Amino acid sequence: MIVNIITLFPDMFSGVFSESILSRAIQGGHLDVRLVHLREYGLGSHRVVDDTPYGGGGGMILKPEPIAAALENLPERGRVILTTPRGRLFRQADAMRLSSLDVITLICGHYEGVDERVSELFVHEELSIGDYVLTGGELPAMVIIDAVARLMPGVLGHDTTVSGDSHYHGLLEHPHYTRPREFGGLAVPEVLFSGNHEQIRAWRREMAFRKTRETRPDLIGNAMYGGEGEDKE
Ligand code: ADE
Repeated sequence: MIVNIITLFPDMFSGVFSESILSRAIQGGHLDVRLVHLREYGLGSHRVVDDTPYGGGGGMILKPEPIAAALENLPERGRVILTTPRGRLFRQADAMRLSSLDVITLICGHYEGVDERVSELFVHEELSIGDYVLTGGELPAMVIIDAVARLMPGVLGHDTTVSGDSHYHGLLEHPHYTRPREFGGLAVPEVLFSGNHEQIRAWRREMAFRKTRETRPDLIGNAMYGGEGEDKE
């Protein structure tokens, strides 16, 4: 997948793309990240990218011309996404949908916002990563890329599956345990030593439901009952 990122702060991305799974995804040819420095498309000798809002009010607004020029200069644009707290909430289902695309372009919003005509003319979807306001769209872009990349075939190791993840089936994940069998006075639940895969599946399903009901009751209505954790034995 080609991921174009239009940003005023390309250096913010160096850490996430040079470490761990995303770095391996790039090395392995699964992910081709192309950072586009919006400043290079700024207007005039000062490379201006922002201006004050018409109608007054505080803050600065990203101008449309530099973003349009950056987009027009891309060899392939694919699906164009603007990261903004005004966007639709980015969920696991969106990560799955985007993971099957060949090209996506993320425009990282900044300052008070982006001139509305950018959305009207170029943007296919506006995504928010949560109901809070960050200083810019770079961290949301990283979050989206991370969530999407790990779903792409071959990015995670063979022994890791995504079908048991929290949110994969609309529920939070069941608890996990590894050695030692007892820790801090707490024992690993007996059922996990039973060798009875049907029982283990049922226990995990029940735990996932309980956890979801406790911490995210809003998810219960959408959950697809059954199957979570089946590949993780
Ligand atoms: N930019 C600032 N806050 C954001 C958020 N919560 N999601 C996406 N983009 C943002």
